[in-house]
Amino acid sequence: MITIKSRREFEKMAVAGACVAAIHRAVKEAAQPGVSLLELEDISRQILAERGCQSSFLGYHGTYPATLCLSPNDVIVHGIPTDYKLKEGDILSVDAGAIYEGFHGDAAITFAIGEVPPEVQRLIDATEEGMWAGIRAVRHGARLGDIGAAISEVGKRYGYGVVEEYLGHGIGRQMHEEPQVPNIGVRGTGMRLRTGMALCIEPMFNMGSRHTKVDPDGWTVRTADGSLSAHWEHTVAITKEGVMVFTAGEEPLAVESVPEPVAEQI
Ligand code: MF3
Ligand code: CO
Repeated sequence: MITIKSRREFEKMAVAGACVAAIHRAVKEAAQPGVSLLELEDISRQILAERGCQSSFLGYHGTYPATLCLSPNDVIVHGIPTDYKLKEGDILSVDAGAIYEGFHGDAAITFAIGEVPPEVQRLIDATEEGMWAGIRAVRHGARLGDIGAAISEVGKRYGYGVVEEYLGHGIGRQMHEEPQVPNIGVRGTGMRLRTGMALCIEPMFNMGSRHTKVDPDGWTVRTADGSLSAHWEHTVAITKEGVMVFTAGEEPLAVESVPEPVAEQI
């Protein structure tokens, strides 16, 4: 079932989204060489508590043990925080989810630890660009296939593998609601989007092939060929005032105010 959210419900999602953005800011700042992934997990727990939020991830499927997914290097998504210490030249995806008064926000960023070669930064920036292309396709009356088409065009233009097995999703009282939002698609096809819907737009691009494998822990998803992977995600709402990103900062960000193309300016 696709849920249509009221203004009041969107306001709660915006508070959850601001918490996720605060976690990203703090974790990115702390993520220096020598810092362990478990130390970053502690920061997330502290911010959730300070803001009166619960984690969307902790206990997910009865087993997920953390509030963050921390996915370094060839890990695409769903990396479990460990005592691994970051080192110069790593890249790290930080995926966080918060619940405020029953409503979820969910977002991911990817960044480099210290200096990385330009081709690695390009993977990170192109994936962010793919996310914004997908977000710009979100509007009342657009179709689901418009989003995937926009995202995959960016990935293909740069020559990256666009991961197909893991998808964006609706979000609201549940972290994962219908519809699923593929990162590939055909324009003009698929379900029509409408005011009141909220979607997580979340491309994953690989430096090499698009193929994936899962570790024996049942969670950690890696590139099949060991190449680097980047992941970006925002929670996006189609409101009566326009399309808003809830996970970009303290306040909702109106998509029409975002300069284009974002990734190339970084
Ligand atoms: N944020 C992820 C998503 O977008 C879900 C995290 S998986 C969990 O689907 F197990 F950590 F919850
Ligand atoms: Co998500």
